[in-house]
Amino acid sequence: AKATAVPKLLHSLSKRFSRTLSPSLSGPPSLPLLGNMLDVAQEHLPIHLTSLARRYGNIYRLNCGNTTMVILNNSEIIREALIKKWSDFAGRPHSYTGDLVSSGGRTISLGDFSEEWKAHRRVAHSALLRCTRDSLHSVVEKQAHHLCQVLWDYNGKSVDLSEDFTVAASNVITTLTFGKSYDKSSVDLKKLQDSLNKIVSLWGSPWISVLDSFPLLRKLPNPPFSRLMKEIARRDELIGKHIEEFKVRMNGQMMQTLTDTHVHMTTVDLLIGGTETTSALLNWTVAFLLHRPEVQNKVYEELCGVLDVRYPQYSDRHRLPYLCALINEMLRLRPVAPLAVPHRAIRNSSIAGHFIPKNTIIIPNLYGAHHDPEVWDDPYSFKPERFLEGGGGSLRALIPFGGGARLCLGEAVAKMEMFLFTAYLLRDFQFLPASKEEPLPDLRGVASVVLKVKPYTVIAHPREQ
Ligand code: HEM
Repeated sequence: AKATAVPKLLHSLSKRFSRTLSPSLSGPPSLPLLGNMLDVAQEHLPIHLTSLARRYGNIYRLNCGNTTMVILNNSEIIREALIKKWSDFAGRPHSYTGDLVSSGGRTISLGDFSEEWKAHRRVAHSALLRCTRDSLHSVVEKQAHHLCQVLWDYNGKSVDLSEDFTVAASNVITTLTFGKSYDKSSVDLKKLQDSLNKIVSLWGSPWISVLDSFPLLRKLPNPPFSRLMKEIARRDELIGKHIEEFKVRMNGQMMQTLTDTHVHMTTVDLLIGGTETTSALLNWTVAFLLHRPEVQNKVYEELCGVLDVRYPQYSDRHRLPYLCALINEMLRLRPVAPLAVPHRAIRNSSIAGHFIPKNTIIIPNLYGAHHDPEVWDDPYSFKPERFLEGGGGSLRALIPFGGGARLCLGEAVAKMEMFLFTAYLLRDFQFLPASKEEPLPDLRGVASVVLKVKPYTVIAHPREQ
């Protein structure tokens, strides 16, 4: 009887305290609202959260309004939660506005962990794998050639390339999803991008997020909320139209195991997840290369030495270590989804020995993990060489795509895009500062859901082949 009494007591104690976060977890004083947190962080929440880690440790709690979050700032701790204990932390927080944006949680990215969600993700994942195997290379190659053509046509003018990068990344996704690509001037593309961008930025605004914490406010007039609802309706109409056209072309043979809503919301997931991320990373790469011209020259020499005049294939990556090191260093220094997407504990569990009750929100601070001085030598410096053999950079600690059950669905797509786009661009162009008078791009960036560089202009000077 004694032998069973202790576990029983522990069980009842753990049940009794099951809603309390481990008291051993420290953190900064509570803030009344999430909006206050964003004010304190001044445009760059990941940097702010990383500085708190230096004070409160690699795992700490944060209270904003009635929400308690646990912030993870080191890759081993993030791996413990997302990979080792994936089944404890695979949930997503529920929210009133999140449900509206995702048609009741029916996107892969915002949907909570459930049998329906698992089936949805599995079907979308195998469809993407099929595309990656059968056609992704030629789709990305075509867009990379087209992007180089657009840059040639600028004829050495100083320009902001961000829209061209967005069009290239977006065309990869629209070719995979609707079998169609668009020109920069296309009205259809502009409408779609405009609607998705507006939804992401309106959803992130304090006027909207306050509705999640204070249900009473939902009854009051709120113009940003009305605009959000209008944009969601516009997005659904535009995507619905593209899918219907595609169905007609495909004679109805697409992702047959998913309902129409799932197909629709998967398209939203891939467009939102796969456009701004890839394009932001290309923009960061060019910005860093303007600061460090010798790095772009090294990549160019490597490309010429290994490939002579031919354009690279993805299978050449093992023979182009410096180019791969540059891409890894960009993913480390500027992880474009710096705080991943919030996770939710779906049962009582623990991280790094601290008790974490069910429903706690977990924020993997990938930016913090990539700047951890215990792991990275001189973490704030841009040093592609760290990822060359013997350079000391740890591929295990590099986690820009998250991990486990919620690993980025587009990781393989993004890696191929980054490799081919960067290789094509650096083979054909030398990127030069817009003018001697203008300052070089600001490398700090602005972080909302995606970490972006502030707008800058650049000259793409054709290389002599
Ligand atoms: C989720 C990073 C490109 C689709 C994520 C997450 C990260 C991430 C950190 C959150 C993981 C988590 O919750 O723990 C990136 C980076 C990219 C990129 C750094 C490019 C450099 C793409 C592309 C696509 C895509 C190209 C689509 C083809 C998604 C989707 C999710 C996701 C659908 C939600 C997964 C889920 O909740 O199960 N991504 N991503 N991403 N990404 Fe990406």
